[in-house]
Amino acid sequence: MSVDGWWKSAVVYQIYPRSFADSNGDGVGDLRGIISKLDYLQTLGVDVLWLSPVYKSPQDDNGYDISDYEDIDPVFGTMSDIEQLIAEVHARGMKLVMDLVVNHTSDEHPWFLESRSSRTNPKRDWYWWRSARDGYEPGSSGAEPTNWRAYFSGSAWEFDATTGEYFLHQFTRRQPDLNWENPDVRRAVYDMMNRWIERGVDGFRMDVINLISKTEPFVDGHMYFAMANGPRIHEFLREMNREVLAGKGLITVGEMPGVNVEQAELYTDPAREELNMVFTFEHMHLDAVPGEPKWSPRPLLLVELKANLAKWQTGFVNGWNSLYWNNHDQPRSVSRWGDDGAFRVDSAKAWATVLHLMRGTPYIYQGEEIGMTDFPFTSFEQFRDVESLNWIAEARGKGIDDSTIMNSLRARGRDNSRTPMQWDGSRHAGFTTGEPWIAVNPNHVTVNATDAVADSNSVFHHYRRLIALRHEMEVVVHGDFTLLVPDHPQLFAYVRSLGSVSLLVVANLSGSECRFDAPPDFADAEVLLGNRSESLAPWQSYVVLLGDAAA
Ligand code: NOJ
Repeated sequence: MSVDGWWKSAVVYQIYPRSFADSNGDGVGDLRGIISKLDYLQTLGVDVLWLSPVYKSPQDDNGYDISDYEDIDPVFGTMSDIEQLIAEVHARGMKLVMDLVVNHTSDEHPWFLESRSSRTNPKRDWYWWRSARDGYEPGSSGAEPTNWRAYFSGSAWEFDATTGEYFLHQFTRRQPDLNWENPDVRRAVYDMMNRWIERGVDGFRMDVINLISKTEPFVDGHMYFAMANGPRIHEFLREMNREVLAGKGLITVGEMPGVNVEQAELYTDPAREELNMVFTFEHMHLDAVPGEPKWSPRPLLLVELKANLAKWQTGFVNGWNSLYWNNHDQPRSVSRWGDDGAFRVDSAKAWATVLHLMRGTPYIYQGEEIGMTDFPFTSFEQFRDVESLNWIAEARGKGIDDSTIMNSLRARGRDNSRTPMQWDGSRHAGFTTGEPWIAVNPNHVTVNATDAVADSNSVFHHYRRLIALRHEMEVVVHGDFTLLVPDHPQLFAYVRSLGSVSLLVVANLSGSECRFDAPPDFADAEVLLGNRSESLAPWQSYVVLLGDAAA
């Protein structure tokens, strides 16, 4: 395989540094904590580590609000710690990807401090400033320039009394959107990225990168349509590619809310020289009431999920996709779509199997590999995430009762996946010797990495085997995808094939037995994973191989 496509056979592991491992007892995970766990990650076999942001930040959105792109926040460590981390990761044959958050900065970033200082400041135009709606007193109710709502509740416009104008923020009011129309902004971002590459990082995960090109003029309506995949987005990404990425063998993944298959193909077709792959969202929205915010959960229909994934599996011509069920913005998949009670282990394995053997680059979120579950939240005081806190305030304001709000937070709150990594069964799960910034899941006594590594039947070793299959078998990387039994409400089954080699992947993604008649060709196929039978027990999954995969 060409060096440039190395990321097609790679598996990425996402670290949420705040919750991974705390080396100094302050209750917050840090870079030295990550260094202490690299051998564990090497045992798992992942190729790339992606760090959620560790840059200097007021931590309004846990680091997705950056006040200095070229320094490390003291809660995580120092520049010399990150240099050491990069070296230690490389020494183990792995690569390191940094989060790149350049749709917005923190309101404490010096660029924004200058921008807000006066209407004539040279950096005024680095952000989006607008005057009050015609006929309204600036700062008064209803005077916002447009009716747009921010992703994290409230208006997307914040009034700034210093200059009497409003600035745009798609996320919290402490995350003003950068103006990518201004070439000086783009130059500053590219220079910063180049310096990180010089420090040795191997790629970038780009936060909401398809929101950077805005459609003007700004008018009332849905903010989303004015932002996602805007008119200059491809131009900006091609420019970034030329100025920063080209020819360096990096891995790039763009987080892209509101992207469809056709657009994703444009972003990732190598001939267009933009990005390697994208994070897509359609499959993450199938269990929300259509047209409603994410806080209105409904059960997932497997038939819909399969149809959606099959469309993405077969929809690319030259482009490439990423594969994920979990990250720091989603609840834990084993609680969301599996069974986090009696069948925790089997259901975690079944969902992992169907994900990892599809076409695309799989992403594992810390703790997923040991089947970590959602947290049993019982009171609003337990939440830390700004999105959840804003939602509680907004929902109460709308008169929604507390128990409905609590149910939505338990089902969808991002803190579910942000509780500390469960290393062992000891107090605070071995995450910290101090008081953790957010509570540790009480089930760490039974769900933890130490026990999982020691048990050859654990979720951990299942992930290790799946990762190894991708490394060993071209069919996993390049094979065609054919969905079987699309209308079956419990079974997820598909075939990957490349030349004379075929892989059959079968999972019962339900808590009741069902039957699967494999295509006759597979009668004598070699079992690679799981137990094969015609009648599948709840959450049973297996993988069989036809042909010589090593060829
Ligand atoms: C997407 C990130 O994954 C999320 O955690 C963050 O809150 C928003 N972008 C804003 O940066």
